[in-house]
Amino acid sequence: MTYFASDFKNVDGTDSSQKFVQCLKLQQSLESYYRYKHKTFEQMHLMSGASVLEIGCGTGEDAITLAKLVGTKGKVTAVDHSQMMLNQALASTENLGLPIEFILADAQQLPFADQIFEAARVDRTLQHIANPQSALAEMARVVRPGGWVVAIEPDWGTFVLDSEQRPLTRQLLNLWCDSFPCGWIGRHLFRYFRQVGLSDLQVNPETIVFTEFELADQVLSLVQTAHKAVESGMTSQPEIENWLSELQQFAQSQQFFCSFIVFIVSGKKLSIASQGS
Ligand SMILES: C[S@@+](CC[C@H](N)C(=O)[O-])C[C@H]1O[C@@H](n2cnc3c(N)ncnc32)[C@H](O)[C@@H]1O
Repeated sequence: MTYFASDFKNVDGTDSSQKFVQCLKLQQSLESYYRYKHKTFEQMHLMSGASVLEIGCGTGEDAITLAKLVGTKGKVTAVDHSQMMLNQALASTENLGLPIEFILADAQQLPFADQIFEAARVDRTLQHIANPQSALAEMARVVRPGGWVVAIEPDWGTFVLDSEQRPLTRQLLNLWCDSFPCGWIGRHLFRYFRQVGLSDLQVNPETIVFTEFELADQVLSLVQTAHKAVESGMTSQPEIENWLSELQQFAQSQQFFCSFIVFIVSGKKLSIASQGS
């Protein structure tokens, strides 16, 4: 069965790819996601006519926003390594007349020459890559000197969920975090940006809050994580039923709460002159 934490790395290899699309569309509809996304667009320092790269474009909504920002003289190149996601993105953009090209490629090996984009952006995709440094190095390689690289990624070590059952809650949140290829990407970003030679780094944390259990479950797979904990022998069925029933009680009395932090990190590619100084 599809598990978002571990299966976004290979959407086409699953038998229920529409579930991934639905999950992305749901997140795109949330106010908190809209807010952080717009901060990332600002940090790309886009000018009309710019050529920009979107990595892990998913259903293509952010590519559409970027295309509107760079205008008809600009260009957006949107990459994903899922053909199913690209089909979805193509279907939702085909009649819009926007300058977007969708390309099937792995973020860790981009099929582009050096220094051809004014900016590159990645949104909640590095968490699904076991070696995110290589994807960031690729983004830095293809951006022109003076251009910007922007990443926004969660850090699942910041995931908190209100419960009276502290040890079990800790175990379940760790299970979710450790099911990602890189569940700690949020805290690694600053170091990785430095390692690939980006300068003028800025880090902006944004807090995402869910107070509706059903909504949180659709995005964060709470019930599924609980069942996985039983399957793996981490805990027992009665303990999990007890944990889930507490969450249901909180939900019914409008007391459910969970939250995590996403980190927006931006960095500038040095010009040749400043590299030498
Ligand atoms: C959580 S989704 C985010 C999609 C989009 N950025 C958004 O904000 O809606 C992650 C996306 O990254 C893609 N992806 C995962 N690993 C990838 C890789 N190594 N190279 C390119 N795309 C990848 C997935 O197919 C998926 O579309």
